[in-house]
Amino acid sequence: MTSGSDSNVIVTRVSRDLFILRYNDLFTKYFEALWEIPEGVTYNSYLLLSDNATVLFDTWKRGLETRFLDALSSIIDIRDLNYVVIHHMEPDHSGSIKALYERNRNITFIGHPMVNRMISSFYGVVPRFKAVKDGEVLTMGSYELKFIHVPWLHWPETIVSYVTQINALLTCDVFGAYTIPKSVALDHMPSDYAASMRKYFVNIIGFYRDNVIKNLDKILNAVGNKISMILPSHGAVIEGDAVNEAINLYREFTLKTPIDRRVVLVYSSMYRFIDHIMSYVNDTLRNWGFDVLTSSPALKGCGRFPRPAFIGSSGWVHGVAPGQHRGAFL
Ligand SMILES: [Fe+2]
Ligand SMILES: [Fe+2]
Repeated sequence: MTSGSDSNVIVTRVSRDLFILRYNDLFTKYFEALWEIPEGVTYNSYLLLSDNATVLFDTWKRGLETRFLDALSSIIDIRDLNYVVIHHMEPDHSGSIKALYERNRNITFIGHPMVNRMISSFYGVVPRFKAVKDGEVLTMGSYELKFIHVPWLHWPETIVSYVTQINALLTCDVFGAYTIPKSVALDHMPSDYAASMRKYFVNIIGFYRDNVIKNLDKILNAVGNKISMILPSHGAVIEGDAVNEAINLYREFTLKTPIDRRVVLVYSSMYRFIDHIMSYVNDTLRNWGFDVLTSSPALKGCGRFPRPAFIGSSGWVHGVAPGQHRGAFL
């Protein structure tokens, strides 16, 4: 179901007691004011209704507080909300903490020990807080929640949650995708969705890829390899065969397994010297059987290159030209 008159809001059940609250953001052109996302992005929050315990997992982006509270109010009275799990403090997920606290001061926020101070420094409020240890299990009515610390995926305070009874793994940014999926859940992995996950990984998670495999294995061990459903905070709920496909994709992304024989040449040239060099590189790569794409990064935002790149630049004020410097960083 959608919520109220806002067609960008989706509120629906993903299992008997678990709801998704999803906002389809078609308006942000540059994610983190940097990554170009013409495809849009979603912010997903989840609500677990159990006997005597109502648990919310993450919220929506800062600036969407009123819409978020309206969506949540379409399922419960916010005064009845008991717990809010904060998987990650980046404001695309923590943005409604203050608004929730102002509506219900009895909420206990749950998160990594670092999160307590981050809430007060980000939002100027000091709510009730329960710090969870790595592997800690809390019973919430008829459900058991296990919390696993996954540092640097992609911030130091990041955790994921596992709902034992339904084998559901709530992962926040991990397994996210830049896209506005037509359906709430996927049970197989179409190639266009895999490409959306790949772009998201390269932009957001990839910088920390050394931490991906070890945290992935840590999660799988902690949950006994039993995952029926992955619930990320961007993109679609992943279930059925798509669960293993998503996990395998993450391993591929981390190991930088080439998906094709494409290479990007990123360069610009002031006086044709670099043109000459890159033309030689281009011809050589083509002779070796690569499909070569060329790009000239502008100073506006862009996505990281999701495949191997060669950077060429004219010398400029004791360094590389600004566009290429940016390209090299990306
Ligand atoms: Fe994040
Ligand atoms: Fe995010």
